[in-house]
Amino acid sequence: MDSLEEIEKKINSKFNDRSSEMLEDHLTQGIPESAIHQVNKMIEQDIDSAIDIGSGPGSVVFELAKHDLSKVIGIDLSDEMINISNRRLSEFDYDNVEFIQSSVLNFDNQPIDGVSMHRMICCHPNKDEVIDKTLNFQPKVISLTIPRNRIFIKVYIKILSWYRRLFNRFHPYYYDPQDIIQQYSENDYKLIDTRTEMIWITLTFIKS
Ligand SMILES: C[S@@+](CC[C@H](N)C(=O)[O-])C[C@H]1O[C@@H](n2cnc3c(N)ncnc32)[C@H](O)[C@@H]1O
Repeated sequence: MDSLEEIEKKINSKFNDRSSEMLEDHLTQGIPESAIHQVNKMIEQDIDSAIDIGSGPGSVVFELAKHDLSKVIGIDLSDEMINISNRRLSEFDYDNVEFIQSSVLNFDNQPIDGVSMHRMICCHPNKDEVIDKTLNFQPKVISLTIPRNRIFIKVYIKILSWYRRLFNRFHPYYYDPQDIIQQYSENDYKLIDTRTEMIWITLTFIKS
């Protein structure tokens, strides 16, 4: 079995390879509606600072930055995603935005009002540690998008994971949204909004 460090190396390499394609998708097709929904739900909670975990090419961070927050952080394991995000940042005039190349698990705990994770947890082998990390920021609001609990999605992820593991490559992970809801509710976070699409579900929690 691979160590966490080895798995995170594979995540880095996989998303380095996908970085230009993801940026191109966002520039030509627009940012996914679920990501915009997350931003809107976070802004409704009157936040002053935010972190987007697994920020990819930076699109969610730039959406958040439009809202006049004092600090917006994008963090991603992939150094190419962070290079792209910093290149994009140099075209804007934001002095409240910072991109960091790191696993969120190694990022300092600090108070941050809003936590966003768009299609990120399904790329990581340890949901519990990632969720604990989000709680350490003591946020007012957490909004995340993950695959729905539907049989064809679970079967697809299982087959893909099995196949990719055969070749010792990065593979996605399936986590049941109900388990995530339970985990946050056990930590006094109340689910205030649910949005579903064919494949994805977006959940927003506030501190109760
Ligand atoms: C499917 S992509 C989604 C990117 C972006 N959120 C979006 O929706 O456009 C998942 C991202 O999470 C990042 N990631 C995975 N595990 C991470 C970790 N432990 N810390 C920081 N970023 C991570 C990957 O490098 C990748 O860029």
